[in-house]
Amino acid sequence: MAQVNNKHHQELEIKPRHMDFPFGSLKSMKFFDNNIYKSAFVAQLSATFPVGEAEFLNSVRNLRKEVKNEKLLKQMRGFIGQEGHHSHQHDQINKELDRLGYDTNSIHLKLKAIIDKKVKKMSHKFRLAYTVSAEHFTAIMAEHALRDEHFLDGMEAPMKDLLYWHAVEEIEHKSVAFDVYMECFGDIKFLHRVMKFLIVMLHIRMGSYTLNMAFNSPHWKSWPEFKGFMSWMFGKGGMWRSLRRPYRAFYRENFHPWESGGFDLIEVWDKQYARPEQNRANPEYVPSVAINT
Ligand SMILES: [Fe+2]
Ligand SMILES: [Fe+2]
Repeated sequence: MAQVNNKHHQELEIKPRHMDFPFGSLKSMKFFDNNIYKSAFVAQLSATFPVGEAEFLNSVRNLRKEVKNEKLLKQMRGFIGQEGHHSHQHDQINKELDRLGYDTNSIHLKLKAIIDKKVKKMSHKFRLAYTVSAEHFTAIMAEHALRDEHFLDGMEAPMKDLLYWHAVEEIEHKSVAFDVYMECFGDIKFLHRVMKFLIVMLHIRMGSYTLNMAFNSPHWKSWPEFKGFMSWMFGKGGMWRSLRRPYRAFYRENFHPWESGGFDLIEVWDKQYARPEQNRANPEYVPSVAINT
């Protein structure tokens, strides 16, 4: 079994951090590096989170009566709490993105219709396998964001803080859906097939949503910005190249999400990116309304 800093990974306590970000202070449609394409990529990602993560937590919750391992059950509750809170926070920032000129709501409604009409009719096994695959993809993106200190350079603070916080919790709970799947089904071949399906869907959806959002903004014609986006995404040291190896690891025999480590990144967030004044549990917490005024 995977070890986390000499500790069994199921010893890791998973608890939502209740944050309050000053989303109202988001200023520009080009909130990421003054680049409409990079900003649209992040905006479409954020648009998919409220309904997408609600499905992830439901697919795990569906299996709560089948799981006998008490530690895993506890982690499942933490997973559900964290994903629920992520949904809520992205819902809040999506309203601000729409205020700036995006249309996150149409992506939200499209995805909701797919989940309500199709996904909810699928088996618990398929829904959980899809969540496991998506969780792996989210976790490797999160690890990349926290390892490459320049990845989010030029992003406005409210979105940056939100993404770093989301990233650290994705790393923290990255094995929960996988462990539930292994305990309840253990069908690796099926899981691999679902991952391949997810990758195709992800490319189609992320690509079309990003281009749509950028083209529907008044800023879309800038060629240098498009080149900047392509290099950030596909260039040397860019996200796609960096994700290739951890993505492939998923298909290795005896793969486990914690084999790549990542526990150190939770500390990186605590030391470098966490803002105590935005954490409701911290004595230094300041309500975001007060920050905005
Ligand atoms: Fe999440
Ligand atoms: Fe997650």
